[in-house]
Amino acid sequence: MTTLKGPDPYAEAEGRLATLFAAERDLGALYQGVCRILNETVPTYNWVGIYLVEGEDLVLAAWQGPEATEHVRIPLGQGICGAAASSRETIVVDDVNADPRYLACFLNTRAEIVVPILDERAVYGEIDIDSDHRAAFGPADRAFLETLAVQLAMHAGVEGRKSKAEGRVA
Ligand code: SME
Repeated sequence: MTTLKGPDPYAEAEGRLATLFAAERDLGALYQGVCRILNETVPTYNWVGIYLVEGEDLVLAAWQGPEATEHVRIPLGQGICGAAASSRETIVVDDVNADPRYLACFLNTRAEIVVPILDERAVYGEIDIDSDHRAAFGPADRAFLETLAVQLAMHAGVEGRKSKAEGRVA
């Protein structure tokens, strides 16, 4: 980890996330709020996005960072994003330039973590974070983000089942 903004950015993020999860009922706004909180609190989380699975693709649902990405739709077979969703496993890349799967977005990016949002029924999407710092993501980041992904999967799963029950999705 590099220089931290506050005494404990993870604790600050957890506090703000708990408030968001307690208050927000709209999934889109929840995803946007999560991206904003992560990007604002943890200094090494330079770009934060949430992709959702749509058929055979991942589609960018929310993001927070200095620049938009051109990769708003990624086939499940491509990139570190596609690999994480397909394998249902968190992927940590210390040096993106050494990983042949990497789909480049930003010149400054050095490291990336992709954490699937899933439960026993489905993979709903993933949290994708780019850092300008090499090897920025350690075990604490993985644990923190995997816990967050479980919370997001609960919300996505409930919404999915509601949509199905109401005939909003096939
Ligand atoms: N680097 C990702 C693509 C998404 S951008 O990081 C926002 C990948 O290799 O799948």
